[in-house]
Amino acid sequence: MEFKNLLFEKKENGIGLLTLNRPQALNALNKELIEELELFTQQLHEMPWSEVKALVITGAGEKSFVAGADIKEMSVYTQEQAQFFSKKGQKVFRNLESLKIPVVAAVNGFALGGGLELALSCDFIYASSNAKLGLPEVSLGLIPGFGGTVRLSRVVGLNKAREMVYSAEMITADEAFQCGLVNKVVAQVELMPTVMKTVETMISRGPIAVAKAKLMVLESYDMSIDAGLELEAINFGQLFKYQDTKEGTTAFSEKRKPQFKNV
Ligand code: CAA
Repeated sequence: MEFKNLLFEKKENGIGLLTLNRPQALNALNKELIEELELFTQQLHEMPWSEVKALVITGAGEKSFVAGADIKEMSVYTQEQAQFFSKKGQKVFRNLESLKIPVVAAVNGFALGGGLELALSCDFIYASSNAKLGLPEVSLGLIPGFGGTVRLSRVVGLNKAREMVYSAEMITADEAFQCGLVNKVVAQVELMPTVMKTVETMISRGPIAVAKAKLMVLESYDMSIDAGLELEAINFGQLFKYQDTKEGTTAFSEKRKPQFKNV
């Protein structure tokens, strides 16, 4: 995969590392970068599990994860262009959110506006202690346009989301940890090793089970308890047609480590 604004590296263990690479603009999301992300997520959806078993997303440089959508580019948008841009970003982030593999945001600095919206579309966020997170759109006379008004409240609760969105204030990594927006805060040099350690654990588990668990957590969020439980039972049952399920349960009885094959 060759891109102008994205760097993609496949580690030997099967973890993919995607770096958003526009450091001159603090990795702001311009139209071109969003289009590259669209292509990237499409390609990842089509890739077999053995190629990329999990994805980590970060920003180039030590200062910023992603400082939002490109404000300079947006400043001349018409109403139609702005709506199109919003829909495009939403679609790309939805593609990302619906990948079957674990996707973790390694927030290494500013995660603002579209940058925080990108991180919110990942499964969860680890942040470096210098990170600052926020949805500053109303300070520009805008509202979040890549899903921030929808996803933030689901993670931090309605009132914290209201406070962050209406004030446009950034919060520190520690504050983000306290309100559940990020799962872990570590020194910047420790960020990537810490994320990789967690992700390595995840890719050692049954991949079909992890994919189903991911689907269930995402899909059942909006459901009634009864509908969610119904879907859970169906998915639980479906796992029993896979060899990996047999392998996992047999390995337990035989007191050995399971060898999952994604079959
Ligand atoms: N768009 C375009 N360029 C950006 C950018 C953005 N979102 N954020 C930073 N840059 C550019 C700056 O213009 C600057 O470029 P020049 O040197 O060519 O002027 C370069 O990146 C470095 O930035 P600063 O000099 O501003 O760095 P700083 O350390 O002084 O400040 C900052 C850092 C606080 C993050 C500041 O850059 C900032 O406030 N950026 C904008 C953050 C923001 O409002 N994001 C939300 C965008 S709107 C959005 O995302 C809508 C949506 O939901 C879809």
